[in-house]
Formats: sequence, C-alpha cells, structure tokens
Amino acid sequence: MIDPRVQLNIPFPPEKQEKLAELIEGMEREQLFWLHGYLQALLQTALTKSLPENSLSGESTPEIPQQTITILFGTHTGNCRKLSQLLLERLGEAGIIAGTFDMDTYRPRQIANERYLLIIVSTHGEGTPPLAAEGFYEYIHGKRVPLLETLNYAVLALGDRSYFHFCKTGADIDSRLEDLKAKRIIPRADCDIDFTDQASAWIDEIVLKLKTDLQAKAISVKPTQDFTKSKTVPRQATRQHPVEAEIAELINLNGRGSSKSTYHIEMVTEPGALHFKPGDALGIWPKNDPALAGRFIDKLPFDREQVVNCKGEDLSIINFLTHHAEITSVSRDTLERYHTLGPNKKIKVLLEDPEKLRNFLRGPDFLDLLHLFPSNLNAQQIVDILRPLQPRLYSIASSLRMFTNDIHLTVGLVRYNGDGRIRKGAGSSFLGERVKKDDKISVFVEENENFRLPVDAASNIIMIGPGTGMAPFRAFMQEREITGGKGKNWFFYGDRNFSTDFLYQTDWQTWRKKGLLTHIDLAFSRDQSDKIYVQNKLKTKSKQVFKWIEEGASVYVCGDSSKMAPDVQKAFTEIIRKEAGKSPDDARAYIKELRRQKRYLEDVY
Ligand SMILES: Cc1cc2nc3c(=O)[nH]c(=O)nc-3n(C[C@H](O)[C@H](O)[C@H](O)COP(=O)(O)OP(=O)(O)OC[C@H]3O[C@@H](n4cnc5c(N)ncnc54)[C@H](O)[C@@H]3O)c2cc1C
Ligand SMILES: Cc1cc2nc3c(=O)[nH]c(=O)nc-3n(C[C@H](O)[C@H](O)[C@H](O)COP(=O)(O)O)c2cc1C
Repeated sequence: MIDPRVQLNIPFPPEKQEKLAELIEGMEREQLFWLHGYLQALLQTALTKSLPENSLSGESTPEIPQQTITILFGTHTGNCRKLSQLLLERLGEAGIIAGTFDMDTYRPRQIANERYLLIIVSTHGEGTPPLAAEGFYEYIHGKRVPLLETLNYAVLALGDRSYFHFCKTGADIDSRLEDLKAKRIIPRADCDIDFTDQASAWIDEIVLKLKTDLQAKAISVKPTQDFTKSKTVPRQATRQHPVEAEIAELINLNGRGSSKSTYHIEMVTEPGALHFKPGDALGIWPKNDPALAGRFIDKLPFDREQVVNCKGEDLSIINFLTHHAEITSVSRDTLERYHTLGPNKKIKVLLEDPEKLRNFLRGPDFLDLLHLFPSNLNAQQIVDILRPLQPRLYSIASSLRMFTNDIHLTVGLVRYNGDGRIRKGAGSSFLGERVKKDDKISVFVEENENFRLPVDAASNIIMIGPGTGMAPFRAFMQEREITGGKGKNWFFYGDRNFSTDFLYQTDWQTWRKKGLLTHIDLAFSRDQSDKIYVQNKLKTKSKQVFKWIEEGASVYVCGDSSKMAPDVQKAFTEIIRKEAGKSPDDARAYIKELRRQKRYLEDVY
C-alpha cells in the first residue's frame, strides 16, 4: 500500500500503484533518499523544459498548470535538509502537495516558474552561504534574474549567534527576493544553534498560512491527519537526544616538549547506537571547568549554592555555570543582554561599531566582562544573560567498518594566555583534561554529506589536513583499507615540529608501506628558519598535483578556516594558472567548477 498521507489525487492506475508500492516497500532510508533526489531531478528537468524561452526576461510570467509548492534547502551539515523534510511531512499532513529540492541540484533559473517557494538555508564560513547554496545565492544576486512579481516566498534561516554574521545568508536571500518584488508570505525566522523550537513554530505558521490561503483560493487541500501534531521521532541520536559513549582511551599524541596538546580519544557506544560515515563529525556535550565557574562566582556578590531558575528548573548557580552556560567566550547577544540589564557607555560604543565589536569579541570570557564592565547583576540575571552551553563538533577519526562501535577523535586543546591568565576552551579541555577513562559523555552524530569519499572507490584523492585537520583523513584511509578501495591517496600534512607533532605517524607509515598511501608530503613550520606550510608543499608539487586533478582526482581540505583553507585555495589557483597557462580569473573559475562537481571539498572550522 502507498502511504495514506500521500494518497491525494494519485495520477497512476491501480496496477501501477501496486508496482510502485512493491518497489518502495522495505527500502532503506538511504535508498529512499536517493530515489527522492532522482525523481526531483527528473521533475525539475520536466518543469524547466516547460518554461517558455522569454520567461527569464521577466516580461512574461507563465501560468503553471498545477499549484505546486517548492521547498528549497541549502545546507552544509544537514540541519536544513532535516527541517525541509519535516516541513514536507507537515504540509503533507495538511493535504498540501509540495516537493523538496536541494539548492545544490536545483536550477536557479527555475525560480521564475515558482509560485510558492519556501527556503530553508544556513550560513557558514564567515557569513557565507553553504557550498550547496552558492549557485542559487549568486544567481538571485546577479543581473540575469528576472523580477519575481508572482512569487510568494518565506525564509527560514539557520545560524549561530556566536558568529558575527548571524543568519546572513537567509537574511540576504530574504531581502533580495523582496527587492525582486516577490511577496513574503510570513516573516523570516532567524534560528540560533538550538533551532528546534523556533523552526517548529515557523513551520506551524507557514503550514497554517498556506492552508488558509490555498483553501481561500479553492485549491485542493485535504487534510488526512491532524497537522498540528508534530511527529518528529528521532531516527538516530541527535543534539537534543544524544546517547552515552564511554571513554575507552585517552592519549596525548604530541611528544614531550611540544608546544601543543592534541588528544586521541576512543569511545565506545552500545552496538548500533550511532551510524556514521567517514566525513561525519561527532557532537559532544561538554561541561565547563568547575574551577572557572567558581572564580566567576567569587567575582559576584552571592554564594555558589544560590538557587536560580533555568528553563523551569531550580538549581544552584554553580551547577548552572558548570553545566548549562557558555562561560569561556562572549558573543554579541550576550553583550547586548549584559548592556540591557546594566547599561554601560563603553559597551554602547562597542555595540555601535561593528569593527571594534568584532575585535573585542575575540578572546574574552565572561570573567573578563565582569572585570572590564563591573555590574550589580543578581544571580537570576546572570542566568538570563548567558548563552546556553552548546555542543562542540569533532571530525570522526575512525571508520565504523574498521572499528565497529568505536569512535575515535583527535582533539586539539585550545589554550592561550590573556592578561596573565591561562584560558582553555570548554570542549577541548573537557575532553582532553577533565574526562577520565570509563567516564560517560553525551554524544550524537552530525552528518556531513558534503565531505564524502568519492562514490567510485577507484577515484584518486588528494587530502590536505594539517594539525587536527588530519582527523577525517584517518577515517578515509581506514575506510579505503577495509573496503579495498583502489583509488590512489595523496596526503599533505603539517604542524609545528616533526619530532613532537606528527600525529598518528605510525598509521601513516604503515599505510605508506602497504602502498595504500601513494604519496605523503610533510610541512613542519618550525623545523627550519623559513616557515613552511602545506600550501608551500602543494606548490612544490605543482605539476603532479595538476596531473592528478586533470585525471579526475578529488581534493579535500580540512582544518583551520581562517588562514589555512584560503591559503590552500590560493595555492591551487596558482597551480592551475601555472600548469594550465590560465589567467587568474580562469584559474579561479576552474576551482569553482571543481567545487561545483564536488571535487574540491572543504570541512573547515
Ligand atoms: C565540523 C567541525 C569539525 C571539527 N573538528 C575538530 C577536530 O577534529 N579536532 C579539533 O580539535 N577541533 C575540531 N573542531 C573545532 C571544535 O568544534 C571546537 O571549536 C574547538 O575544540 C574549540 O572549542 P572549545 O570548546 O575548546 O573552545 P571554546 O570554549 O569554544 O572557545 C573559547 C574561546 O577561545 C577563543 N580562542 C581560541 N584560541 C584563541 C587564541 N589563541 N587567542 C584568543 N582567543 C582564542 C575562541 O575564539 C573562543 O572565544 C571542529 C569544528 C567543526 C565545526
Ligand atoms: C564552520 C562553521 C561556520 C559557521 N559560520 C556561521 C556564520 O557565519 N553565521 C551564522 O549565523 N552561523 C554560522 N554557522 C552555524 C551554522 O549556520 C549552523 O550550525 C546551522 O545550524 C547549520 O545548518 P546546516 O546543517 O543546514 O548547514 C557556522 C557553522 C560552522 C560549522
């Protein structure tokens, strides 16, 4: 039987319905996703073909035969995909037919043919669209996009308030569509990292609005279920419903005398509790350092056991600061709330100057805030000001096929000196210094469909992953080893010193000996007077790198987003320019095309 929720005007005769049901029955989630994407691509081609030639000029707006609602999502780590699926289900329950499309495969000019477009998009990098949304974003901001006077749209934006450009991509798309004369159905919602409640409310609102509007226009809407009931049954552990993992091994990978501490952490879960693929990250819920939380309270005029209320629960302030609040960093929204409750001229100046604010927010923790801008806050106000503690993500450094039930992470301790005080990152010090063997911690998987090994196991790959950027490549190599992937593998790695900082050296040597690792190039920046980084190493292998790319290799970059990833991209542009004799613009276009083909992939943070 076909799912009753989609039994609306089925355009198939009964015998075809049966065949369809037979085909779908028992399909795995992954197979369903594939089929979903395949059918969407077919549908989109059919719709694009039906688009009259002059429709792009904006002079004519063709009538679409049937009222269709398009949900368009732009995602990097999958949150927007999951929400678009939820929206699709909720519309289905309200009897409204819709289709979801990934911006990555959606042809942007199709927008001229849409009447109802619901956009769910995140922001990445430093306020940039996720890779999958780049094409759509550029198209609607370009010169060739027509006016969209007959388009009705709504935007759900995902982001993280701790970033300076909060939800920028969603905001840009929303205002651009307005400029293009499209009609906003409901206001945009800008969701923080803990998006579930706000996104659900937006979904409720849009479903109700569309249902009312379409019914008013007498367009077929037949509810088959009570659509006010959300039915999100988590299929695997999620941020909100994590599972427990037990710490099985904890080793500092850096040798004695290193300026860094990088931890190899092995965890074990119940069999089948987590599903992940190479390229995915593990989300962990950290706990703050109780000593730091204590210093915090020492600055305030109340004691540790002072009771406060957090989300309806009474608890001591020390418990709140240790388990529920971000205290190792200050974000703009925290500063704004701090200023609202205790107005301060200096904070006002900062909040009014984006550049000054940006510089200020790099480094201080909440203790600095109390020190720099003393205030008479009471304990409950502290609770209201601080941002809820967020999970941290770490690339999974092992393959599930090789280590069933195990998860390996490579965690670099964030440690720096500020005003004579050693500061440590909440998540990295929790994992590296405060958890002990046999402790249990809360974890979930953050899927990353944009950082996968090539489908063809015979394809060659070039991996660039200095420092902890190595982590996913260890998983890639294990996967290729266990599955017998025949593609050639080339790794560019770097850190400070060879003798102390070559992480997992024996793993890489073994793979090299076995022939699984075709080449490895190392850049240890502090082993000689000139600083040498992976981008320099790449350029010294220019000819061979270009040959690999021309022969179809995929490039993977993982690690630091602020300097390493842009420098590596510049190095590739130079390589293309030199080896292919292209102009700088053409070389950049070449890289762009590689990105479009998903052969230049980044997982940077
Ligand atoms: C998809 C993904 C995968 C990741 N994979 C890995 C991985 O495999 N391994 C890994 O180690 N990390 C990884 N990270 C990074 C990780 O999630 C954390 O961001 C990192 O561990 C720091 O978190 P923290 O809680 O320790 O620090 P926080 O408590 O979040 O940070 C404390 C504050 O320190 C500031 N700060 C840091 N360094 C300095 C400095 N030198 N000077 C001034 N201020 C500074 C920060 O800006 C921040 O405000 C990944 C991130 C993502 C998004
Ligand atoms: C490396 C990285 C950079 C990010 N940059 C921003 C940013 O500049 N602005 C913002 O609002 N959110 C930013 N975010 C937060 C994401 O938008 C947020 O996690 C969102 O839920 C991701 O949705 P997705 O899984 O659909 O991509 C960033 C997240 C990561 C991992």
